[in-house]
Amino acid sequence: DRQVGVAILGLGTIGSAVARAIREQGDLIAERYGLRLVVQAVLERSRDRAARADLPPETIATDLATILSDDGVDVVVEVLGGEQPAADFMLRCLRAGKHVVTANKEALAKHFGELTAAAQEAERALLFEASVGGGIPLLVSYRQILAANRITRVRGIVNGTTNFILSQMAEQGTAYDTALAEAQRLGYAEPDPTADVEGYDAAYKLAILASLMLGRHVRPDEVDRTGITGVTAEEVAAARERGGAIKLIASAERDGDAVRLQVAPTFVPGDNLLAHVSANFNAIELTGDRVGPVVLSGQGAGPLPTASAILSDVVEAARVGAAANVVLGA
Ligand code: HSE
Repeated sequence: DRQVGVAILGLGTIGSAVARAIREQGDLIAERYGLRLVVQAVLERSRDRAARADLPPETIATDLATILSDDGVDVVVEVLGGEQPAADFMLRCLRAGKHVVTANKEALAKHFGELTAAAQEAERALLFEASVGGGIPLLVSYRQILAANRITRVRGIVNGTTNFILSQMAEQGTAYDTALAEAQRLGYAEPDPTADVEGYDAAYKLAILASLMLGRHVRPDEVDRTGITGVTAEEVAAARERGGAIKLIASAERDGDAVRLQVAPTFVPGDNLLAHVSANFNAIELTGDRVGPVVLSGQGAGPLPTASAILSDVVEAARVGAAANVVLGA
C-alpha cells in the first residue's frame, strides 16, 4: 500500500469525525484503493480536544509551519471553520505543495478566486465536496454534467439546520427555539447558529455553486439573503394545510448575461419534491441545457455525512491529485 499522510486542521465536531472515519475506514480504503491513510499531524490548540481525539501526542501541532515543512503530509484537511485564519492556511498549504480538502464554505465563498488560482498554480488538488450539501456527492455530479451542458440554474435546500427547524415546526409543531437547540445538539448547526438562521451559511454555499456555474468568483454579498427568523409558527402551519411547506430556498438563475442569486424562505407547493425534504436533508436541483433538471438529496449536515464527503475527497486527492479539481463553467 502507498502511505498517504493526512493533516487535519481543527479537531472540532467535523475534524474529530474525520479522524475517526480514517481510523474506522482505513483498512477498507487500503483494500479498495491500495492507499494507507495515516493521520500524520493535527493542528489543534485546545489540549482537551486533542486529548479526546485519541491520537498519538506527537501528531499534535500548535502551529501551521510544522505541518507545512513536514514532507510526510500529502493532504491537508481544513475544518477550522470561519474565514480566517482558515483561508490563509489553505493558501499556504497549497503553495507548500499539499493537496487541500475543505468543508469550509465561508472561507471558500469569500476567497474562491485566490484559492482556486493557488491550486492551479501549484498543480495541487483543492477539493470541497463537503462544503456544499454535506454528504451529497454534488460536485462530482456537477462535474459529470458540465462537459455536455451549460448549467442554467441551481436551486434547492442547502442548509440542514434551518430545514430541520422548519420541518420540526411543521411536522411536530415544535417551537422554534426547541428545534434549534436540538439541531445544535445533533451537530448540524454552526458554532454560532446565526449563520444558519439568518441565511449566511446558505448564501456561502450558493456563492460557491454560482462561482462554479459562472466561472468567476461570485461573492456571498452578491446574494439577496433573507433568513428564517421572521417565519412564524402560523405561516408554517398554514403552508402545511395547503399541502406544501415553507423551505429556505437558495437559487442561482441565469437571466441573459446576468444571474439572480437569492436565499429566502419560500412556499413550496406539495407537488414539488423540495416540499418533502425533511430533517437535516438537503436537496439540490442542477439544471443543464441538455440533461434538464437533476435532483440530488441526502444528509446536508452532521458529522458523519460531512466526514464521508471529506474522506472521499482525500482519497481522490491521493489517487489523482489536481486532476480531481472541479472545472469551472461559464
Ligand atoms: N450548519 C450547516 C448546515 C452545516 O446546517 O447545513 C453543514 O454545512
